[in-house]
Amino acid sequence: MDKFVIRGGNPLVGTVRVSGAKNAALPAMAAALLTEEPVILENVPQVRDIETERKLLAAMGADVELGYGRAQHRTTICCRDLVNPEASYELVKTMRASTLVLGPLIARMKRARISLPGGCAIGARPIDLHIKGLEKLGAKISQEHGYIEASAPRLRGTRIVFEKITVTGTEDLLMAATLAQGETVLENCAREPEVVDLAALLNKMGAQIEGAGTHCIRVQGVEKLHGARHRIIPDRIEAGTFVIAAALTGGDLQVSGCEPQHLDALLQKLEECGVQVYVIGDSIRVVGNGPLRSADVNTEEYPGFPTDMQAQYMALATQAEGTSIVTENIFENRFMHGQELVRMGANVKVEGSRAVVRGPTPLSGAAVQASDLRASASLVLAALVADGETIIDRVYHIDRGYERIEEKLRGVGAQIRRIGELLPKRVAVPGVAV
Ligand code: EPU
Repeated sequence: MDKFVIRGGNPLVGTVRVSGAKNAALPAMAAALLTEEPVILENVPQVRDIETERKLLAAMGADVELGYGRAQHRTTICCRDLVNPEASYELVKTMRASTLVLGPLIARMKRARISLPGGCAIGARPIDLHIKGLEKLGAKISQEHGYIEASAPRLRGTRIVFEKITVTGTEDLLMAATLAQGETVLENCAREPEVVDLAALLNKMGAQIEGAGTHCIRVQGVEKLHGARHRIIPDRIEAGTFVIAAALTGGDLQVSGCEPQHLDALLQKLEECGVQVYVIGDSIRVVGNGPLRSADVNTEEYPGFPTDMQAQYMALATQAEGTSIVTENIFENRFMHGQELVRMGANVKVEGSRAVVRGPTPLSGAAVQASDLRASASLVLAALVADGETIIDRVYHIDRGYERIEEKLRGVGAQIRRIGELLPKRVAVPGVAV
């Protein structure tokens, strides 16, 4: 199992480029199931979750072709002959976003068999809202032997009000509704940029969707969708992680190739903390040359402060003057990084959905363990300012969603290296042409 060895103390200086958004690429790949024609996706990040989704699609019979050389971030998916509309436990257990194939499979193949995702490190994460919504669209769904079995003659448009805002739930039903008969109105939808990006792709494929990015999305169902070419939006969470890295290390960093408006809540919070932030076109320059001040954070659905930035923000709060109260409102168990930060010298007390962080406390390098994707990122950030060497175990979590993070950080001055079994540049996937 790979580990990161990080020696802290270097300010990050220079330019770092942001990759495509994992959480936009995953639903976009699932959308390819809705058509017999090829869907060409550009700016797909090379991270493990994307590899898992390629395996999932290939196991169903899709042709998945990866670009190479300068086109290495391109993936072409053709789902002409889907022999096996099934997502096995082996794949779903490693990536809950696999449930995104449920809606498209029911809509196009009239049936699906998907393993129920099990527990998750950050909370229970049920998928009841996906299921209820698909049932409202006319699907018959049962559960047997840990699998969801679904069938439907043709889905029928309807009105669905989400009881709770859900990102992949919105995406799943949006995809299903594109091929339903008549109009579907989805209310209380997630407004995340990834939902907007998916709707843009679906509209290029011939869908008729209005209102993505608002709470109410209207979909006029069509008979068929066709192929399309689409560029995935930049990863706002990766960008935000680099922004915090610069602020934390007192660096001067240009985070380029991002959509700064997708990071509004984070950038405003950092200004409150005393960080200088300049937005220039598609770049954010962060200058961290003054003392950091504490500020409270409440995670919320977009456009609020993202839960996916909470752990990284906590690393920053350990170095800010005063008390920061971090309240996690989206997931019930997303504070595992708190204990690991304490092992590095932080003063973090977790009380239910709140973490109280008192700073600044000097951090010292220690052996720590990554528990989930964003928790791992927060440990990397803490290690960048810790005294001495930090060894982070289980970095496969970070490989799920950050593309070559150690190379990118090294390029702007961090002392970070990977030890253990090296990640192959290309993972060979049966059925996938590389
Ligand atoms: N929820 C339900 N029932 C459902 C669906 C969700 O109760 O059927 C609850 C969840 O348990 C949670 C809340 O609703 O308490 C919101 O969850 P949501 O469905 O929005 O999360 P998700 O779609 O499973 C996506 C991202 C996550 C990100 C969350 C919140 C993808 C592939 N994943 O998950 O990203 O944290 O939205 O913004 O888009 C990550 O990248 O590290 C990550 C975990």
